Amino acid sequence: MAILVTGGAGYIGSHTCIELLNADYEVVIVDNFSNSNPIALQRVQQITGKTIKVYEIDLLNELELERVFQENSIEAVIHFAGLKAVGESVVNPLLYFEKNLISTISLCTVMQKYNVKNIVFSSSATVYGLPETLPITEDFPLEVRNPYGRTKRMIEEMLHDVYISDSSWSISILRYFNPIGAHESGLIGEDSIGIPNNLMPYITKVAIGELKELNVFGNTYETSDGTGVRDYIHVCDLANGHVAALKKTIEMNEVGIFNLGTGRGYSVLEVLRAFESATSLTVPYKVCDPRPGDVAIYYADATRAFKELGWKAKKSLEEMCKDAWRWQLNNPNGYLKRKKQSTSSK
Ligand code: NAD
Ligand code: UD1
Repeated sequence: MAILVTGGAGYIGSHTCIELLNADYEVVIVDNFSNSNPIALQRVQQITGKTIKVYEIDLLNELELERVFQENSIEAVIHFAGLKAVGESVVNPLLYFEKNLISTISLCTVMQKYNVKNIVFSSSATVYGLPETLPITEDFPLEVRNPYGRTKRMIEEMLHDVYISDSSWSISILRYFNPIGAHESGLIGEDSIGIPNNLMPYITKVAIGELKELNVFGNTYETSDGTGVRDYIHVCDLANGHVAALKKTIEMNEVGIFNLGTGRGYSVLEVLRAFESATSLTVPYKVCDPRPGDVAIYYADATRAFKELGWKAKKSLEEMCKDAWRWQLNNPNGYLKRKKQSTSSK
């Protein structure tokens, strides 16, 4: 029996494939490489010494997708594929409803047809909106503020309805906080295209000299040093969270929602200082206006994942910084030969 990983060539997907292979799962990948490169998958195989089966298919193509279910004994699906750029989703919401929501409908329809009813879904902490208290538990009220977040919430709700209609489904919804870092080999990592929107890839691009300085978005928030606080989680810890969730999804028939975070927050300046100390580099920065729509503080209560999945994040901020830097240094142009131009970068 194999695990189908949609979007398996992407940032989180490729790291998760390593942990799945290390745990002796057979892995089949469906990816259209719209925001990734097949080289990532060669490197996953190089790191693990194991082989994976790869289909270059767009999830919206149901007929092609059926072929994957016909040719393999799929036991469960980990569903990463989708677009993730918040700003792009505001400009082009229909693209996001098509590529995230419709493609998930297509996936679940095919799963149902082939009687594969175990799914682990990549959601996001973005579904919580503005938290009134901290840390954020899974039963906090949801409030989405952009089309990207709305697609995540709608998919979560859709999966609930699917379960209500047929309780032989088993569904794990994973709400990620802020994944950063890279595999310690330095062979795979986050292949940001253009100017990154997110903090860690921006820092590494300043450190390598590709960008001049970090723009710190605001220093008057009600936080220890006035800069925004987030729950950064090492991508390999996150990947392991998927293996833990997968086991539970296969064993049980229920809908589970889990925060995947470390449970502690770091400010922008704390991350910057940690990066400098982990790499012995100096990263220039300047303070700018706050980014519209940003929340001051955001961090997870990850107790449920520990109690019910037996999972918790282990890696330190220092390891996240060191690994992010190793990836950047060894791969200044990411995966180099990009196969197709991306439609999405966060
Ligand atoms: P990514 O862009 O690196 O990976 C997504 C993968 O899906 C890519 O390989 C892309 O080519 C593929 N893909 C996209 N649309 C497809 C389609 N229609 N058919 C087939 N393949 C398709 O993104 P990531 O950072 O690895 O994120 C994975 C998932 O986790 C996404 O659903 C994202 O919304 C979610 N998420 C990510 C973050 C984050 O900070 N990276 C945070 C919260 C949630
Ligand atoms: C982003 C996503 C969100 C996703 C989350 C987790 C956006 C708008 N939001 O939010 O949907 O769920 O990641 O992966 O992309 N910062 C700077 N300078 C920079 C970049 C960031 O100061 O150049 C600050 C931000 O103001 C914030 C912190 O760094 O305080 C983290 O920012 P970022 O990495 O973009 O993550 P989120 O804001 O949490």
